[in-house]
Amino acid sequence: MRSLVVYESEYGNTEKIARAVAEALGEHGEARVTPVGSVATLAEEGLDLLALGAPTQRHGLPAAVKELLERTPEGTLAGVRALAFDTRYERARWITGSAAKEIHKLLRHLGCKLLAEPESFFVEGSEGPLEPGEEDRARAWAARALGRTKRATST
Ligand SMILES: Cc1cc2nc3c(=O)[nH]c(=O)nc-3n(C[C@H](O)[C@H](O)[C@H](O)COP(=O)(O)O)c2cc1C
Repeated sequence: MRSLVVYESEYGNTEKIARAVAEALGEHGEARVTPVGSVATLAEEGLDLLALGAPTQRHGLPAAVKELLERTPEGTLAGVRALAFDTRYERARWITGSAAKEIHKLLRHLGCKLLAEPESFFVEGSEGPLEPGEEDRARAWAARALGRTKRATST
């Protein structure tokens, strides 16, 4: 299975989560991690799974991530399995907003098959650090999402 984890990260916290997600995906094959700024579009030949994550900023998605999703041609991600995650403050989602929720919606619009609900990982302050245990939680979240599809496709 070929996986790609794409992330935006201003202070490095979302990058840590992206690397934890890639570690879990790497148990099932090749898993690369790359920042948003270094990919032209999300479309990639032979991709099985795309995970996309960003910090929640101003209740939503940083502009660079929105632009990347907008310039990815419609249809090119049809059927690709996907996961959406963000980092944000640990308060009710209606107060903080959530980049992951928007990523999830836009990836679905591009034809991806979302494997799990959008997930948030929490920071203690705007520059971090991550709350204790969040990288472990990210590894477990990605592993569980994949486990679910393996079961789903084998029945
Ligand atoms: C300009 C700005 C706006 C932010 N707005 C929000 C927000 O609306 N909701 C929230 O939960 N966190 C907000 N935060 C905190 C970020 O989510 C936090 O900086 C981020 O999780 C850190 O991830 P990073 O190290 O990958 O940049 C904001 C941070 C910045 C710098």
